[in-house]
Amino acid sequence: MKEKVEKALNDQIRKEGESSQFYLAMASWAEAEGLEGTSNFMYKQSDEERFHMLKLVKFVNERGGKAIIPGFDTPPTDFESVLNVFELLLKHEIQITESINDLVEVCLNEKDYPTHNFIQWYLSEQLEEEASARTILDKVKLVGNDKAGLYMFDRDLETITVTPANTVDPGA
Ligand code: FEO
Repeated sequence: MKEKVEKALNDQIRKEGESSQFYLAMASWAEAEGLEGTSNFMYKQSDEERFHMLKLVKFVNERGGKAIIPGFDTPPTDFESVLNVFELLLKHEIQITESINDLVEVCLNEKDYPTHNFIQWYLSEQLEEEASARTILDKVKLVGNDKAGLYMFDRDLETITVTPANTVDPGA
């Protein structure tokens, strides 16, 4: 595996792991605040990010590189509000998409087409995660400071499904 690709993949391993820790901190905060729906949603997000990290670790090792398992800084322990949590989620996912785009560029520059192919999965995953974060953020904004609305939002979050554009059949 080429050095630049290996480095870019290891950078991404760290970012996916950091995302997992960040979302775990959000889940834990929401749980302590009694926001069960938000908490479950963020625990799930955290698990997904860990899965993204592991998938990269295995790929790097299988391709003859060496995956580096990073340590992490302590994420924030407090968040201002549910709105704040979902604003941060969207902002963070947008940053991750940018970093996946950079990774694609490294693969193309280094003519590493198998890794380029592998990374396509992450691109569509990012489309999904951004779409989901945007949809939920719009809902939280509608709720505003209404306590009853927040209660319903939190409850409904358990069952929310977002269909991103890349999975919709335009002919259907
Ligand atoms: Fe794996 Fe949402 O970045």
